[in-house]
This record gives sequence, structure tokens and C-alpha cells, in this order.
Amino acid sequence: MIRLTREVRFALNEMPGSDLARDGRHNRWSCWPRMVGVRPYVRLRVTLSGELNPSTGYLCNIKLVDDLVQETVVETLSMHASRGKQASELTAIAFAALSEKLPEEVKLENVELVLTPYLKYSKKSEDEKMSRVTQQFEFSATHRLHCEHLSDEENRRIFGKCNNPNGHGHNYVVEVTVDVDDQQQDINVMVELETAVMSEVIDRFDHKNLNVEVEQFASLNPTVENIAGVIWDLLDGKFVSSQLANVRVYETPKTWADYSNLK
Ligand code: NI
Repeated sequence: MIRLTREVRFALNEMPGSDLARDGRHNRWSCWPRMVGVRPYVRLRVTLSGELNPSTGYLCNIKLVDDLVQETVVETLSMHASRGKQASELTAIAFAALSEKLPEEVKLENVELVLTPYLKYSKKSEDEKMSRVTQQFEFSATHRLHCEHLSDEENRRIFGKCNNPNGHGHNYVVEVTVDVDDQQQDINVMVELETAVMSEVIDRFDHKNLNVEVEQFASLNPTVENIAGVIWDLLDGKFVSSQLANVRVYETPKTWADYSNLK
């Protein structure tokens, strides 16, 4: 299956009837947000699937996606946001609006509303009364990659610099994704999520030597893969208003691991 994703960037809360709202150029040039005024800036990622057009090689012309978002989503979301709709509801509204307008031969796979670089909501079906929330956290820690059952020489050969006896540090980034029933209030989900990640992960790992100070790594090599798995175990079952779906840990911007129940 081929999927195509287009990200459209725009500002919310244009005041209806204002000069800026009337002049669409301020909020659509090359799909970048307008360059004057101060309004919430969001990104909407639209993922589509379908058959390629044999003549053009296109799944869907991205200009159509841009136009549909501008014509059916920007003003609607702005209005609902100004009336206090929560982010999960805005994501569902965007999904429904696009789903209705897209050509029949194109399937809307996912809509992701990126509210900040650290928080995003997504929805993959109108029928499934669920949305997905991903929030990013960070902690700094020292670790040493070392396996007791291997010789010192084997450890040095396999882990190289990461086997330095005095350890080395990373600024880890953790992205936690949960599935949320549409009946839930975003605020309850977020408070519960942040409270659990703070007590179970950040307080436990931040500014620590993982091998020495975190019991989960007393005999477990603290690779990024194992860190993701340990964080999953620490968070699994801790949420009442949502369901843990994925834990992603970035060791560096070039290396990350996912632990999930996602198919
Ligand atoms: Ni390392």
C-alpha cells in the first residue's frame, strides 16, 4: 500500500470578518502560516492511501489537499477553537470535514493535529470513537553499555566508546502515545499522563546514572531499546482515562526505539 502525507500549516483564530481573515493570502502562501499578527500556529498532517494514477504517478495532488484544508478546515477549526472545543474534538472535526470532501478513490488514513513541537493529536477513523495523543518529555542521564556475562574485551569490541567504564551522557527524549476514548476530557488525560510520566520516569531517571541508580538496570543493559521497554512497563496500567499505545525514546536525534502494542 502507498501512503502519502501532506502537512498544511496555518494560524487559528482568525477573527471572522477581519481584514486578515478575508485576505486568505496571509494564511496560505505556500502553506506557511501568515507572517503578520500573533495567532496560534498549528500543523495538520493529512495521510492518504489509494491507487496511483498511472498517468501522473500521483496518489493525490497535494494542491487539492492544501485547498481542501484551507477551504473546509481552517475557518471551521478556528471557530470551534474559539468556542472552547478541545484538541481531540478539533482533530475529529478536521477528519470529518476532509473525509467528506476528498475524492472517492482516495482513502483518508489519518489526520494529525500538531499543536506544539511536543504535543499532537491524531485520528484514523470516523467510526472508531478514539483519538491518539502524543506528548514529548525529556530527561538527562548517564549510562554505560556493558554485559556482565561478556568478557571485558568482548564488551569493548561490541559496545566501543559506549563501554567507557565511567559512562557517558545523553539528553533523552521520550514520546508517550495514548489512545483516548472520545468521551474523555483532554485535560484529564493530559494531567494523568504528565503526572504518571513525571513520577514513574522523570523522577526516576533524570540526572541519574542509569546503571547504578535505577534498579531496573541493575542487571539489564541500558540500551535505548531496553530503556523504551522499561518505560513501557513503568507506565503500562497507570492510566484510567487512556490506554498506553506507544513509547518512543530518542537517545540522539539519529537513534530511537519504539515499544508498543501497535499493529
Ligand atoms: Ni549512550
